[in-house]
Amino acid sequence: MSSSLDIASTYTLPAGNNIPVLQLGVYKSPADVTHRSVQSAIQLGYRGVDTAQYYANESEAGSAIRESGKNIFITSKIMDSAGDVDANYAKCLESVNKINVGAVDLFLIHSPRYPNGAQDRKAVWLALERLAKEGRVKAIGVSNYGVKHLKELEEYASLPISVNQIELHPWNQMNDIVTYCKQKGIVVEAYCPLVRGRKADDAHLVKIAEQTGKSWAQVLVRWSLQRGFVVLPKSDNADRQKLNADVFDFELSDDQMTLLNGLDAGEHIAPCPIDCD
Ligand SMILES: NC(=O)c1ccc[n+]([C@@H]2O[C@H](COP(=O)([O-])OP(=O)(O)OC[C@H]3O[C@@H](n4cnc5c(N)ncnc54)[C@H](OP(=O)(O)O)[C@@H]3O)[C@@H](O)[C@H]2O)c1
Repeated sequence: MSSSLDIASTYTLPAGNNIPVLQLGVYKSPADVTHRSVQSAIQLGYRGVDTAQYYANESEAGSAIRESGKNIFITSKIMDSAGDVDANYAKCLESVNKINVGAVDLFLIHSPRYPNGAQDRKAVWLALERLAKEGRVKAIGVSNYGVKHLKELEEYASLPISVNQIELHPWNQMNDIVTYCKQKGIVVEAYCPLVRGRKADDAHLVKIAEQTGKSWAQVLVRWSLQRGFVVLPKSDNADRQKLNADVFDFELSDDQMTLLNGLDAGEHIAPCPIDCD
């Protein structure tokens, strides 16, 4: 499947729109840098950008997309609950207006961890459904959801859960969640796909990089693609953006995939709310 992918490849979301398989992440991209980062990524052929209310750079990501004149997929996320459905709706509508590209392609609940747990999660989801029904967002989904959160959501969701965005790399594979999402047709997105550089010296990774003639970062992006994930490498540096997207001219062998798949240690680097109440 993945050998035929290129930078313009997409998967079809349960909501019906198409999501690019490789997108730029902009977590920790300062607002004054984000516009330039998104601009250079688009020039390099990236077709999607992953932002969030929490990243405080939605406007800058949106303006770079508008100026490009291209059809670029944009995702945002709501982290904190504003209270009831109306308040959450207003908070997400603010994002849609800040991004200002028309309908936002994908809007996610950033994390299941809320002061009032299930009650807050429901109020945020129903706000996202309202935005989707009004055509202000095209697809909705979740992030950092464990299987129990997905099951809870399925009890009341009247629109499909299009995506679950979770931390995924060889050292943190969360196979129970990935398997559940695949069964349900939920597209899985891999965040921290480069492990923020922390595994650059890992002996197995270095060996595969040497074998393939690619860098450790390219091997990790390729691993995500071959696992069938949408992958979201972040870089504010145009050279590294180019490198991270130059992953469609090689393939990891079965043996190399097996080696990487064998590294799972539940080792996550971002806060991991998948078990929270
Ligand atoms: N839903 C969630 O809770 C959640 C959590 C975390 C992340 N995310 C999303 O996933 C995206 C990616 O995750 P992430 O940003 O945490 O981590 P990441 O993509 O694994 O790593 C980004 C870090 O690696 C550096 N880097 C990028 N390419 C490199 C290369 N080729 N060689 C060496 N260093 C390189 C970047 O620095 P430079 O910028 O200087 O290149 C940055 O410091 C985020 O931006 C965000 O969109 C979502």
